[in-house]
Amino acid sequence: GRQRQRLLLENAEQLVLVCGRREPCLRREGAAGLAVLRGASLVVGLDGCIKAVGQADVIRDQFLEATFERIIDCSGKCVLPGLVDAHTHPVWAGDRVHEFAMKLAGASYMEIHQAGGGIHFTVEHTRKATEDELFTTFQHRLERMLRAGSTLVECKSGYGLNLETELKMLRVIERAKKSMDIGISSTYCGAHAVPKGKTATEATDDIINNHLPKLKELKLSGEIHVNNIDVFCEKGVFDLESTRRILQAGKDIGLQINFHGDELHPMKSAELGAELGARAISHLEEVSDEGIVAMARAKCAAVLLPTTAYMLRLKQPQARKMLEEGVIVALGSDFNPNAYCFSMPMVMHLACVNMKMSMNEALAAATINAAYALGKSDTHGSLEVGKQGDLLIINSSRWEHLIYQFGGHEALINYVIIKGKVV
Ligand code: NIG
Ligand code: FE
Repeated sequence: GRQRQRLLLENAEQLVLVCGRREPCLRREGAAGLAVLRGASLVVGLDGCIKAVGQADVIRDQFLEATFERIIDCSGKCVLPGLVDAHTHPVWAGDRVHEFAMKLAGASYMEIHQAGGGIHFTVEHTRKATEDELFTTFQHRLERMLRAGSTLVECKSGYGLNLETELKMLRVIERAKKSMDIGISSTYCGAHAVPKGKTATEATDDIINNHLPKLKELKLSGEIHVNNIDVFCEKGVFDLESTRRILQAGKDIGLQINFHGDELHPMKSAELGAELGARAISHLEEVSDEGIVAMARAKCAAVLLPTTAYMLRLKQPQARKMLEEGVIVALGSDFNPNAYCFSMPMVMHLACVNMKMSMNEALAAATINAAYALGKSDTHGSLEVGKQGDLLIINSSRWEHLIYQFGGHEALINYVIIKGKVV
């Protein structure tokens, strides 16, 4: 038509659609398809959504009389969907570089946690920080995620544990939702650890009786809109029964269930998540075979976190087995003071090398399947007409360079585009 459009990406060497349909990639490559067009163009309309995608000459004819706010020649380059990071803890004060040294010297994650460090250390510093301080560092971290190609990220609270600080963190996330280009799905993670001086049961009661009603109230008044609920379901943290109570109470106020499970010990978290209708479960290094089958059946996504297994030298999650059983496998950076990684390209690289995923599977896991884990695969995660125009342009004639090259990929990513705008 003659209309004005926002953006034309012309003649990309490779244009990676990811999926030819509005569903996650359930199985291996091929089955769900990682469609790659050659010599292709893409149009984003003024509403920020993809208007057309196809062969360059076809698109040229179709939009002969249209005008564009911006045209980018993509000859010799690749266009991919913006990356989706399905698991991050990005709001906190007090880094833990000293604990990195302790871990290198042989201390385990749980030893440090039980000695009052780990999450407790970060909680202490986050409680003392002002909202503005937290917002400033959070903004920088989001900016770095964006530069590494993430256009939609899940962001958790969980370094407050008390209502006051959890709300402070959620307000900080809400502020970024409104002021930053990057897309955010927010998660209340008040059950990230049992606060000092409380039992797990007391903490569980506090969350159910005080935190969640407050979140419901703030949602109704439009002040804070939280999307997901999370619990660290782990031996010595929240057991299966407390986890069940908290997740069910979260679901009852309309939150999507998306929690940490079966990381350091087998907990039957996967079985519980499938039963409760969880959208996603993260970690799963210690998931049972039955848990995998239950997740596949319940279409509960597995968010695998290669940085954590790498950092803590854990057993790798069984990605191959999950894929074979038909689990929707997604990826997340798990950015947090333990695993200080912003980069989904690095995460995909680790998933391929350490978890034996193919590059096609890793890309699907870091786009459409990660969007699914956040309940956003109708609008995000693939290049399809009607979806949001979130894209990357990389300076390579083969898209796989985004995974093959590890470290320093910022130079490889020429443009990050959100809703059709270069950001
Ligand atoms: O996903 N396992 C629990 N939570 C985080 C770590 C948070 C922290 O150590 O600060 C994780 O790895
Ligand atoms: Fe985590």
